[in-house]
Order: sequence, then structure tokens, then C-alpha cells
Amino acid sequence: MERYAIKGGNPLAGEVEIAGAKNAALAILAAAIMTDETVLIENMPDVRDTNVLLEAIQEIGAIVERVDKSRVKVNGSTITNVSVDYEFIKKIRASYYLLGALLGKYKHAEVPLPGGCNIGSRPIDQHLKGFRALGASVEIRNGAIVTQAEKLKGSHIFLDMVSVGATINIMMAASMANGRTIIENAAREPHVVDVANFLNSMGANIKGAGTDVIRIKGVEKLHKTEYSIIPDQIEAGTFMFAAAATRGDVLVKNVIPKHLEATTAKLEEIGCEVKEFDDSVRVIASRELRKTHVKTLPYPGYPTDMQPQIAAALTMAKGTSIVTESIFENRFKYVDELARMGANIKVEGNTAIIDGVDRLTGARVSASDLRAGAALVIAGLSAEGITIVDDIVYIQRGYEDFEIKLRSLGAEIEKVSTEKEIQKFRLRVG
Ligand code: UD1
Repeated sequence: MERYAIKGGNPLAGEVEIAGAKNAALAILAAAIMTDETVLIENMPDVRDTNVLLEAIQEIGAIVERVDKSRVKVNGSTITNVSVDYEFIKKIRASYYLLGALLGKYKHAEVPLPGGCNIGSRPIDQHLKGFRALGASVEIRNGAIVTQAEKLKGSHIFLDMVSVGATINIMMAASMANGRTIIENAAREPHVVDVANFLNSMGANIKGAGTDVIRIKGVEKLHKTEYSIIPDQIEAGTFMFAAAATRGDVLVKNVIPKHLEATTAKLEEIGCEVKEFDDSVRVIASRELRKTHVKTLPYPGYPTDMQPQIAAALTMAKGTSIVTESIFENRFKYVDELARMGANIKVEGNTAIIDGVDRLTGARVSASDLRAGAALVIAGLSAEGITIVDDIVYIQRGYEDFEIKLRSLGAEIEKVSTEKEIQKFRLRVG
């Protein structure tokens, strides 16, 4: 098992370059197979989730060519199979985007039902409701969702809750339906807009992405494109909170500051200075951190994917902070691990109450999911002594070269596998 060994205490300082947005990339890769022409995607993050989805796409017959670390070409003309293997969906839930993409293009898709995950039960009823509204049949057969239609027909769809996945999946299928579709109560996340822009660059006709009403006029065919994915706002936010927690000074480059506004506002509330430039933000944390209250909400609210990271920083802020999770039911699994590092934190229902302590101390902890893992790394970087974070396979799902980027900011962090390597790290850092 790969782990991170961290010696905490160094304030992070310097510059860091943010990769393309993982969550946009997953949907864009699925959408890329909707044309028979070759699509070039740039600013593709080189992380486990996108690499698994690329394998899944190859497995159903598409041609994938890695041009370099951040560019990939996809050609979907050779797809022979509309049935996706369970192996892939088990590794990444977002392979459910192949439902919308295959249904739109071939009017038929078979994708295994994603199971629950570490942050709670995650139903996809709204995705399926959307497909049905477009005239497709949807049934569960042998653990897979089988959806098909003679013809897809545009429809007026009202989502019961704001769902990023359902908005994108329906948008993809509706792009190749007959007639007009309206999605009401649509998600407004930056990656919804990015996927709409990508589809439009392939010839789709989508308007209103970024608002809660998206209007789509179906087209018969999509064509080739070259497209660059937006920067990852969650990766950026993670480095911003790492700067705050370690009382550092970090310039986070290749970002869209507008997408970071909720994160920036919280950093300022807790006592950091945040300077915004055209495509970068600088976080300076020279003062003691202060408490705050935060509640996760759909965009433009504070993102649930940034909830564990702010909590990690707040464990060392003066006063009592309250963190409320309103999107996922089970997103506080990392709390017990932070408590083992000396945090004073308890969970009541969907709320974590954090009494700030002067310092955390290093411990052996385990990542339970992607963002929880990032939060433990932030805690480890700020703690006294050595922290070992187990199960970093979760972190590698969504952070490109995480330890390399952190080291360039002055962090003492190494990827280790064996007890012997941990021992060596301990000896080296003292
Ligand atoms: C996406 C992101 C994830 C992020 C989340 C919320 C990707 C690959 N993942 O996940 O990182 O945390 O948005 O910003 O982009 N729901 C239903 N029925 C549905 C769909 C959703 O009840 O059919 C519920 C979910 O359980 C959750 C809420 O709606 O409580 C929001 O989920 P959703 O926005 O769909 O999240 P994902 O698209 O799965």
C-alpha cells in the first residue's frame, strides 16, 4: 500500500500550478465518444479517475491516444460495444456519464449500477428520470442499467434536487435528441458549463449552462473539436487551505478566481489575506486563524468537496467553528482521524463542531475518501512531528503529482510503501 510520510511544521511558500478539473474531465471524456471524428482534449489531469475512464472508453472500442501528460486524443468511431464492464464503474462512479453519452449517440447503453461510496448513498434516480423523459426505456438487468430508445425526443425536465451528475448526463443525451429539451433546477457548477461549452464546440446547441435553466436543441451529429479543460477549483482550494493551515504564503497559478470565490471568502473570514490576479490567487496567512461557520451548498455556495479541507484548517483556529454538510450524508469520516492528531472535534448529525486547539501532533491516520485524504495531508503538514497517511490511493484519484507539488512549496512529504521506508523517512527528517 502506498502512503504519505509527512513531517509537519513547514509553512508552505512559493508557487504551484493547478491541473485541469478532474470532474469536468470525466464528463468531457465520456462526451468525446459522441462523435465519430477525433477530439483533442487539453489540460487533462493525469490522475487515476481520468486514467480509469480512458481505459473504460478503450474497452468499449474507442481509440485513445495520449499525446503527452496533459493532452489526449479520443476517437469514438470504432466503438463496438455499448455495454460497460463493472470493473470500471466499481473504480469510478463517474463512468455513469457513459450512459448519457452512449444513449445520445447510439440510443442504447448498458452500464452497471454504481454502488454506494464512502461519502454516503448516492442515488441516480434523477439521471434515470431524465432519460425516461427523453423517451428512453430504463430497466435494471443483472445489476446494470439498460437504457434504450427508438428515438430520443426533447422534453421539459424538472430536477427534484440540484444534481451535477444528472444535469450533465441529461444534457449529453438531449444534445442528440430530436427537438428541444429544457432542464429546470439544473446544477450551475463550473464543470457543468465546461461540459456544455465542450459539447457546443462539437456542434451541440446548449444555452443557459451556468444558470438553473438549460435549453438544448438536439442535433443529429457532433463533430471534431480541440478543447482545453478548465482548471480544477478543488485542487486549487486544497492548496489554498494548505497555505492557510501551515501559515504560509502561496501563489496558486492557472486558476479562474471567480470559481474560487466561496473558498476565498472563507479564507478571508478566518484571517488570511487573499490577492486575486487574472489567472492566479495568492494566499498569505500571517496571522492566527479565526473560527467560522460554513455550510456546504451547490455552486455558487461553498463546495462539499472543500468541506474536509476547511475543517482541517479550523482545527487550529481560535474559537469554536461549525461545519455543516448539506449535500452528502456521510462526509465526516475523517473526523476521528483528525481527533487522533489532537483536534477537538465532534459530529452531531450533519454538523461538525470544532474547538480550535493550539497545535496538532503527528499520528498514523488513514484516508477514507479523496477529499478526506487531502484534509489529512493538510493536517499532517501543519502538525508537530511525523504523520503517516495510509490509503493514499484515494488521494491519487484526484490530485496530480500531489506530493511533488507540495515538496516544491517546501513541505517534507514523501510517498512510501513499506515500514522500512517509513523508518528511513523518520531517520532522515529527524
Ligand atoms: C459531483 C462531483 C462530486 C461533488 C458533487 C457535489 C463529479 C464526478 N463528482 O458528484 O465530486 O461532491 O457533484 O458537488 O463531478 N442525488 C440524488 N439523486 C440523483 C442524483 C443526486 O438524490 O439522481 C443527490 C445526491 O445523493 C447528493 C446530491 O443529490 O445528495 C448532489 O449530488 P450530485 O450533484 O449529483 O453529485 P455527483 O454528480 O454524484
